[in-house]
Amino acid sequence: MVVRAFFCFCLWLLGGVSGVYTDETEMISVMEGDSVTLNTDVTEILRDDLIVWTFRLNSSDTVIAEIYKLIISIYDNKENNERFRDRLQIDEQTGSLTITNINRLHSGHYKVLIKNEDVKQRSFNISVCGILTVPVIIRDTLQNSSSSSGSSRCSLLCSAVNVGHVTLSWYKGNSLLSSISVSDLSISLSLPLEVEYQDKNTYSCVLNNPIRNQTKHLDNISQLCQPNSESNQTSFIVVSLLLLLLLLFTVVVVLIFCRRRKYTQAKQKAQSNEEEVDYTDATFIKHRAPDTEADGRDQTVYSEVALR
Ligand SMILES: *[C@@H]1O[C@H](CO)[C@@H](O)[C@H](O)[C@H]1NC(C)=O
Ligand SMILES: *[C@@H]1O[C@H](CO)[C@@H](O)[C@H](O)[C@H]1NC(C)=O
Repeated sequence: MVVRAFFCFCLWLLGGVSGVYTDETEMISVMEGDSVTLNTDVTEILRDDLIVWTFRLNSSDTVIAEIYKLIISIYDNKENNERFRDRLQIDEQTGSLTITNINRLHSGHYKVLIKNEDVKQRSFNISVCGILTVPVIIRDTLQNSSSSSGSSRCSLLCSAVNVGHVTLSWYKGNSLLSSISVSDLSISLSLPLEVEYQDKNTYSCVLNNPIRNQTKHLDNISQLCQPNSESNQTSFIVVSLLLLLLLLFTVVVVLIFCRRRKYTQAKQKAQSNEEEVDYTDATFIKHRAPDTEADGRDQTVYSEVALR
């Protein structure tokens, strides 16, 4: 099969010399996960007709499918064509190619060679568009903090994930205000908008690719602009107060606990002292100190206090 594909490919190259070619490339955008059909515009394939489909990889065309002698061959298991595994279908009537469950790896240049009475070629450029997420509108706090606090204007920011081939735009009613598009997929898209607090216009932020769009309407400007920051401040104050109260409470509890402990300890000490006094039998042993005999006075030395 590979040998025949190569043979067909050579035929195609030969055909290039004498064939009728359309230089036009059909541009096709497909959503990731969708299917796409590339048409040959042939109504019926005859026994001796040859149809070869190729995909351009690293500037060389590799055969992915062909029909010859009414036999369909699909090359989706070769090393280079792994990306097409179980995704290719050929219409046996027309030779049209359908790619199912498409992903970014399938973006690129496709060609079909049709050899019947004459030789024709058609080209297709498929660009696969990523799934769009709904853009998010937030208050641009960086802008707002730098502007004067008495200002009646409010800075907003619309952001979206960059999935490729997308444009992010601000609309006022139906008219386009601004738009941005970034080719680097690692950079997410964001677009500012400055509005008045009391603005009654309808604004919307739209993320679109060549196929679809996702729209986020700016519903309530005053809600987004004003109370948010106030409630933020309020909640900050409330949280701070609560923390302070908790700290105070802890300090008071610790103090009380320490005092109680001290008090109990003192009390216990006092009690044990009393006990000593109450229950101690002291035995006093009288000594007569021999060196003080001369004094004639009795000196009593109390010693050896034995506690029971
Ligand atoms: C087809 O797409 C490739 C990239 O996928 C691009 O380089 C090429 O210029 C496109 N061809 C046309 C005719 O637009
Ligand atoms: C978004 O898509 C809808 C159809 O899905 C279309 O009616 C509308 O005009 C589009 N909006 C923009 C701004 O492209």
